[in-house]
Amino acid sequence: MTRQILVHPDPGTLAAAATARLLTAVVDAVAARGQAHVVLTGGSNGNALMAALAASSAATAVDWGAVHFWWGDERFVPAADDDRNEKQARSTLLSQMPFEVARVHAMPPSDGPDGDDVDAAAARYAALLASVGGGAVPQFDVTLLGVGPDGHVASLFPGQPGLTVGDASVIAVRESPKPPPTRISMTMPVLCASREVWLLASGTGKAQAVAAALSPSPGEPVLPAGRVHGEQRTLWFLDVDSAPASS
Ligand code: 6PG
Repeated sequence: MTRQILVHPDPGTLAAAATARLLTAVVDAVAARGQAHVVLTGGSNGNALMAALAASSAATAVDWGAVHFWWGDERFVPAADDDRNEKQARSTLLSQMPFEVARVHAMPPSDGPDGDDVDAAAARYAALLASVGGGAVPQFDVTLLGVGPDGHVASLFPGQPGLTVGDASVIAVRESPKPPPTRISMTMPVLCASREVWLLASGTGKAQAVAAALSPSPGEPVLPAGRVHGEQRTLWFLDVDSAPASS
C-alpha cells in the first residue's frame, strides 16, 4: 500500500485535480471490470469536488450508467433537510449527470422506511451493501473522505466507540461532536475496503489534524484520518494551508 501527498495551491485547484483523477479512475474501472464503485463524502471539499466534476467537459467520457455511488456517512435528518449529504450531492452533481438512479445508494433519512430508528437505518444500509456486493461489501474503487479539524473521517470521531467497530459494516453514530448529532457511518474496515482512499483537506484549520494523522506522535492514539487507507493506494489531496511544512 502506498501513500502519496499531493499539495495544491488552493482549494479550487485541489478540487480540479481530484476531479481529473476521479474521472480517470472511473473510466479505468469501468474498462477493466464493467463497473465502478465510488464512495462519496460530505463536507466542503467533497462538495467542491462534486461541483467540479459536474462542470467538467471530460465527464462526458464516462459511462455513468455503470457507476455505483455510495456514501461513507450521512447526517440522520429528514430527506428534504439541506444538511443531508445526499441532498447536497444531488444538487451539485447527481441532478446534472445521466446517472442510473438504481445505482445511487443513499443512506436512509430519518423519515425513511425505518423512521427515526437510526440503528435500523444503519442495518438497512449494511444489508444493501451486502446485497449489491453479493454477500460482502462491494470492492470500492475510490473512497472519498473529507477530514475534520479533529481528524475525523466519515462520522468516525477520535475517542468515540464507533472508531473501533470491526464486526459491522455500517453503524449508527450518536453524540457526534460535529452537528447534527445523529449520523450513520461506514466503519473503518469498510472505508479501507477500497482500492484507493482519497482524503481531502484544505485550510489552516485542518493543518494540525493533517500533520498528526500523517505523523502520529508515539504513544498518542492515531487519528481516524491516520488509520484509514486504501488497499492499493492512499492519496492525500491538500492545499498549502493544510499541508505540513515538509510536504
Ligand atoms: C459530514 C462528513 C465529514 C466531513 C468532514 C470534513 O457529513 O460532515 O462526511 O466527515 O467530510 O467533517 O468536512 P469539511 O470539509 O466541511 O470540513
